[in-house]
Amino acid sequence: MDLYEYQARDLFEKYGVPVLAGIVADTPEEVKAAAEKIGGVVVVKAQVKTGGRGKAGGVKVAKTPEEAYEAAKAILGLDIKGHVVKRVMVAQGAAIAEEFYFSVLLDRANRSYLSLCSVEGGMEIEQLAVEKPEALARVEVNPLTGIDKTKAVEIARAANFPEDLIEKVSDVFVTLFEVYKGEDATLVEVNPLVRTESGDIIALDGKVTLDENASEIRHPEHEELEDKDAADPLEAKAKQSGLNYVKLDGEVGIIGNGAGLVMSTLDVVAYAGEKHDGVKPANFLDIGGGASAEVMAAGLDVILGDPQVKSVFVNVFGGITACDAVANGIKGALETLGATASKPLVVRLDGNRVDEGRAILADYAHPLVTLAATMDEGADKAAELANA
Ligand SMILES: Nc1ncnc2c1ncn2[C@@H]1O[C@H](COP(=O)(O)OP(=O)(O)OP(=O)(O)O)[C@@H](O)[C@H]1O
Ligand SMILES: [Mg+2]
Repeated sequence: MDLYEYQARDLFEKYGVPVLAGIVADTPEEVKAAAEKIGGVVVVKAQVKTGGRGKAGGVKVAKTPEEAYEAAKAILGLDIKGHVVKRVMVAQGAAIAEEFYFSVLLDRANRSYLSLCSVEGGMEIEQLAVEKPEALARVEVNPLTGIDKTKAVEIARAANFPEDLIEKVSDVFVTLFEVYKGEDATLVEVNPLVRTESGDIIALDGKVTLDENASEIRHPEHEELEDKDAADPLEAKAKQSGLNYVKLDGEVGIIGNGAGLVMSTLDVVAYAGEKHDGVKPANFLDIGGGASAEVMAAGLDVILGDPQVKSVFVNVFGGITACDAVANGIKGALETLGATASKPLVVRLDGNRVDEGRAILADYAHPLVTLAATMDEGADKAAELANA
């Protein structure tokens, strides 16, 4: 889960990373009041989960509360790479002498952590990595020992910080790593980390990605950081039922068991759709191993709630959960859903106890259910029905 800048700022403050005052606001009036409260020069900053806000006009300096009011009017409602700004942060203005870059992240490929650091901050790091790779230090961080003072100094030296700044910035790196570790983050990035004219080191912008695998048990408090109204309503509903669902932009609803099978089902349906006016898969939904009636009902309920969906393809390979259990699951789901289940369903079952499973659905003879013998046949039928 990616956090907004203001949420990252709050976490930084909690751990003792030096930050400036920041107040979130949703209207120009609130922005003006926040600017009055902070006093002096402020910066009004769009809160959207995408980069390049400054370039897009989403970061504006304001010398007075009136200017902050005007800046808010310009920024609120702005579309930044498809993200509409609904909230801004009013940040205390810093007198910047120099801008640096620091991040620590999970390096999956190397099963390790990696710190990236540069004395050339401010610009987009992707651009720096391409145009001036020598200016970007990459230092591996052992997950068992993390960034202690020694490591932090090593990072600062690798990035060519001047000797007189090493003590101060390395302290900040250690604290930023405490955020990374303490919150089970997979990314903590500060761009820019600045030196102010009075010599302080301050994190002026923060990006934090939290590991959602850690949220339920280790960090129940992270739930509050979730952005409930920004999430797709169908995805939010699926999440509530514990389903692994991703909304896509097509007409054929997909249910399968196992991520690999669902991925290949998406491909096969997209391919079959080419013959049927270009219909496409409407979603990814993996109902996992135990395809019980409840899980099947919850999955169908989410998919049928998508107004774009015209037909549904259920593609299940019976393993530990045998096909007869899945067939009973589908039957139970249709009974639970009653009239809500109003779109044609193509079902392909294979694997453990396939004959019993098919027999159950054949006997049931629900008018909306069509049985398919193979995955290709099922995909073709579902695409055809979606296009009818
Ligand atoms: N509180 C502040 N005081 C003074 N200047 C600021 C402040 N916050 C940001 N700036 C200036 O604005 C620039 C852009 O701000 P920031 O890094 O927050 O956004 P961004 O980099 O454009 O967006 P993103 O990080 O999403 O790509 C900074 O590099 C800095 O020069
Ligand atoms: Mg930035």
